[in-house]
Amino acid sequence: MISIRPFNEGDNQRMLEIERLCPQGDENCAMGVDKKDIIARYKMYDNWNVLVAEKDGKVAGWIGLTLKTTPEQKEKCAYITEVMVDPAFQRAGIATNLIKEAEKKAQETEAVYAYCYIYEPNKASRALFEKMGYSEMRGIKFPVISTYKKMDVPPEYSIKPVDTKKIDDAVALINEYNSGFVHFMPFKGQTFESHLKLVPSYGPENFWIVRDKNNKIAACAGLWDSSKLANLYYAREPAAMKVMKSVFEALSHVTKVPKFPAEGEHFKVYYIVDYAFNKKQPDAMLALLKHLNNISIDRRQDFLMAMTDPEDAFLAVIKKLKPQTETWNVFARSFEGNLPAFSPFYVDIRDMIP
Ligand SMILES: CC(C)(COP(=O)(O)OP(=O)(O)OC[C@H]1O[C@@H](n2cnc3c(N)ncnc32)[C@H](O)[C@@H]1OP(=O)(O)O)[C@@H](O)C(=O)NCCC(=O)NCCS
Repeated sequence: MISIRPFNEGDNQRMLEIERLCPQGDENCAMGVDKKDIIARYKMYDNWNVLVAEKDGKVAGWIGLTLKTTPEQKEKCAYITEVMVDPAFQRAGIATNLIKEAEKKAQETEAVYAYCYIYEPNKASRALFEKMGYSEMRGIKFPVISTYKKMDVPPEYSIKPVDTKKIDDAVALINEYNSGFVHFMPFKGQTFESHLKLVPSYGPENFWIVRDKNNKIAACAGLWDSSKLANLYYAREPAAMKVMKSVFEALSHVTKVPKFPAEGEHFKVYYIVDYAFNKKQPDAMLALLKHLNNISIDRRQDFLMAMTDPEDAFLAVIKKLKPQTETWNVFARSFEGNLPAFSPFYVDIRDMIP
């Protein structure tokens, strides 16, 4: 018998155990997520709900969701953060029941649609959500740069951590850059400062401003170390990556080479977040990315990653640094009427924790 009930603190250990058994992907490529506290990520949202499924008295899986208000339509929508089922209990309809229950909760709070992200190789999750009536809305790009060699930063730009007294400049740039992006909620000076402080291991000291020769703001971006909330690793590493790893290992005796983590090894990664630039000055964003590359090396990180809409001008800039790019697809289902457009789509940094 399957029963569904609210999460309680006593579930944490068992849920962590299930998450370790549940890499997201297929037999060729799967991403593992290692956390110390399942609920820590939820505390970044002002509301959340986690429902736990029990089979014969044992925790078998769970689903998490948070309710958001979309700035465009002022409608409510539910973001399904995750759904996990212990492999010993899979293909018995548990995820289906959890999704139905989560949708019921979302509708009770007047959400008009639900959305989630699915890692491209995660065929099981895609099949599950398609069967539940969800459609693929957008392929969000996930460029990853290996940070292993310092880069020259062009001297015509000044790059400094934000002076919080002048935070409004950055806020204006971010708001202008993201205007027209679906789900983007414009910031005010105060809301941006609280956002910097609310996200664990972020803060104003990790947010940089680029000024041009005329002292005008030309670009900005933050670095977020999300490892306190979750570490990522390849539970199954793609074969091509294993080949590259052995090639670069041979080369590492003569030159600096990018890092390819072994299967099961945590990525040492910072997310590039809250980026924006004056579209007439893409070189200012490139200069900042080079600066962030150097910071990543100084702080002994191996990668910088971002999540961006495929039409985001940022993608063309970061491509100059030759990233590996993966895709996470946004899936959504309407509870009433048609789904809104999802392009171009703004990625809420809190949703970047898989
Ligand atoms: C994806 C996942 C949650 C499915 O859980 P589940 O309880 O086994 O799912 P259900 O039994 O409700 O399956 C419903 C339907 O989804 C599809 N589906 C589920 N798992 C599938 C698989 N491995 N391969 C293909 N289709 C699958 C099928 O259409 C299935 O219906 P069927 O069994 O009648 O064919 C589970 O495989 C899992 O925890 N995976 C690892 C974690 C993960 O990727 N979570 C999603 C991202 S957060």
